[in-house]
Amino acid sequence: MLILALDVLERDVALDVARKCGEYVDFIKVNYPLVLSAGIDVVSELSEIRPVIADFKIADIPYTASLIADIAFRHGVRAVIAHGFAGSDMLRAVRDVADRHGGEVYAVTELSSQGGREFMTRHTLEIVDVAKEVGCDGLIAPATRPERIAEIKKRAENLRVICPGVGAQGGRLEDVLKAGADGIIVGRTIYQSEDPARTAREIRERIDGLMK
Ligand code: XMP
Repeated sequence: MLILALDVLERDVALDVARKCGEYVDFIKVNYPLVLSAGIDVVSELSEIRPVIADFKIADIPYTASLIADIAFRHGVRAVIAHGFAGSDMLRAVRDVADRHGGEVYAVTELSSQGGREFMTRHTLEIVDVAKEVGCDGLIAPATRPERIAEIKKRAENLRVICPGVGAQGGRLEDVLKAGADGIIVGRTIYQSEDPARTAREIRERIDGLMK
């Protein structure tokens, strides 16, 4: 699975890159930079090109988390990303909203950045357990640390594990898939390349070759 992280700031650029890369990616992931600068309606427009994952990293009290998730789903997203560290009550609230919309929930385990090791790593496997209990559809795990992906995947059982951090953050596609990831999230390597469609196609071909 290839997920395009579309962290560009302008609506027209986002739609252009999405249209060019759409046939090579399974999902488009949107994050705050795009939504805060272009407005939430861009999410609906992108959803017409490819299914969207809203990476709003929801981490709040259940009530507020539900409002955020509901807004995302009402704009056509297929899935939302919520922080596992916020706890089971919040994940359950987000799960309930997703169920009302027929959507999916991914829980963040530990961030792919260095800072992800400071606090989150100690609780990663507990977060995986909570995500399973709550019935999340998948987990976000760090492509920058393949050894952690393997541990997370083992504990995750049938939850999908998708990994940001390939390319610009230093993670290697081959290592990530070998560690058991079900998909990778790639942003800058694609949308900052000279030819985003060609780059997306090449990554897609590498994934298909490795996952055969
Ligand atoms: P790049 O440009 O680094 O984009 O390929 C990566 C995208 O993924 C987000 N990101 C994360 N999201 N957990 C998450 O839920 C993580 O550990 C993580 N690391 C990166 C990043 O914000 C960007 O959208």
